[in-house]
Parts: sequence; structure tokens; C-alpha cells
Amino acid sequence: MTRFDASWLELREPADLQARNPDLLRTVAAALGASGGVVVDLGCGTGATFRALSPWLLAPVRWRLIDNDRSLLDAAMVSIGALAEAVQLDLAQLDELPLRDATFVTASALFDLCAASFIEALADRLAERRLDLYAALNYDGTIIWSPLHESDGAIVALFNRHQRSDKGMGQALGPEAGRALADTFAALGYDVIRADSAWQLSQGVEALQIAFIEGVARAVAETGGMAAAELRDWRTFRLATLKTGASCRVGHVDVLARPPDARRHEPQRH
Ligand SMILES: C[S@@+](CC[C@H](N)C(=O)[O-])C[C@H]1O[C@@H](n2cnc3c(N)ncnc32)[C@H](O)[C@@H]1O
Repeated sequence: MTRFDASWLELREPADLQARNPDLLRTVAAALGASGGVVVDLGCGTGATFRALSPWLLAPVRWRLIDNDRSLLDAAMVSIGALAEAVQLDLAQLDELPLRDATFVTASALFDLCAASFIEALADRLAERRLDLYAALNYDGTIIWSPLHESDGAIVALFNRHQRSDKGMGQALGPEAGRALADTFAALGYDVIRADSAWQLSQGVEALQIAFIEGVARAVAETGGMAAAELRDWRTFRLATLKTGASCRVGHVDVLARPPDARRHEPQRH
């Protein structure tokens, strides 16, 4: 099982927050409306989706937080407080996902870890109840660094290969997650909106850039697809160029899937 420590989630949260598509956040908030409801957040981590969505909400909502990591759930409960309930659950046990009285389902940085079969089964469950899904920050397979390095292309290809390895829920979709979400929900008649939510990392977020470069190098090493000397050169170059203002764009896509027959009264935000 891949574990996500709270310090990594904390480091990436500002970049995630800046990257999330505001039109989708606004649409989710409008769909939840003035009467609130129960949002089920899958793979909640420490509660990033609660923090991202809260400023847009027209009324408080209750949060049902789902994660298999007790310590992350505890941190999320501290962040959200009385409006939240925590459910420790391995999402592979999809039949046990508590959707009673749910009005919306959310997730962020989750579906690239999941298998296609999981998305298909989840979509069936949500469609049964005509539930919406807001799935933010699905990695899309593109990374563009500046300045360029001759190994960047091979690095990204190997990183993407690693992204497709099993992260505890079957063969992960990795960069295919956004497309799989869109296709699967569209096939069930949902209206699907996809929106760009790329990280734009430049000066001021060196700590995140370092952690990302180290994570990419580790993943590439695990694939065994690149000679150690070439990988070392690439890593050394990437870390050195941070001192002279290097930047990096990491592609993500946000997906909003809405049942077509949802007759909602969605108040406008004034
Ligand atoms: C990349 S983190 C994203 C966390 C949070 N949504 C955010 O955006 O900061 C992925 C989250 O999914 C959870 N997760 C991964 N596999 C899971 C599984 N099989 N069942 C339940 N939660 C899982 C992890 O514990 C982690 O909190």
C-alpha cells in the first residue's frame, strides 16, 4: 500500500489550491446550494477538499470523510471539527462505502492511484443514486521543466510508467485517470466537464519542487529503466537549477460529473 504522509500533503496543498479550477469549485458550491447537504470525500487525506471548497459554499455542509489511513483521518477531523464524521475504509471495499443521505461525492489527487475497474464500479454506485462527482487534480502525464534537460522526455515516460503500477488498488490508471473518469461517467449519461488544473511551480515553492524532483527520481529508479549515472546527472541538474529560478508545470485535470436529470435549483453567488 502506498502511504501518504501528512507533511507531503501539507507541502503540496498550496499548489493544489492554486491549481484547482475555480469554475468547477463555483459550480460544485452552486449545486450544493443554500441548504447544504452531506459531502462524501473519498481519500480525504487531511481535508484539503474541505478547505478548498469551503470559501465557495453558500451554506455549511456536513463532511463524511473516507480514508484508509487513521492518522490522516484524525488530522482531517481536527481541521473540520463538528461538521465532519470519519470513516476508516479501504476504498477497495466499495460495497461498504456509506452513501446514505449523501448529496455530493468529492475526491482530490485520488483517481490516478486507482484501477479502471474501481472507477467503473464507483460510477455504477453513484449513478444508482444519481450522485454528482467532483474529482480534482488528476495527474495527466505531462511535466514540463524549464530549463530543459536532454533526459526530461525519458524521465517523464518512466515516471508515467511508474504511475501506472499498483498503488494498492489494482493497476493504477496514472495519467489515464481523467480520461477514464470522463468516459466512464459519460457512458452512464452524466454531463462531464473537464478543466485544466496544472501545477505551476516556480520561485517561492522550492521545497515542493525539491520534494517533487526527489519523488520523480525515486520512482524512475524503481522502474530500473534508466542508467544510474544518467538519472544522477538529471537529478543534480534539476536541483542545481532551482537556485537560478527553474520552473515546472505538472499537468492535472479536474473532472465534474453531473447526472443529467438532476433537477436542481442552483442559486447564483452574488
Ligand atoms: C494523494 S493523497 C490525496 C489526499 C487529499 N485528497 C488531498 O488532496 O490532499 C491520496 C489519499 O487517498 C488515500 N487512499 C489511498 N488509497 C486508499 C484506499 N485504498 N482506501 C482509502 N483511502 C486511500 C490516502 O491515504 C490519501 O489520503
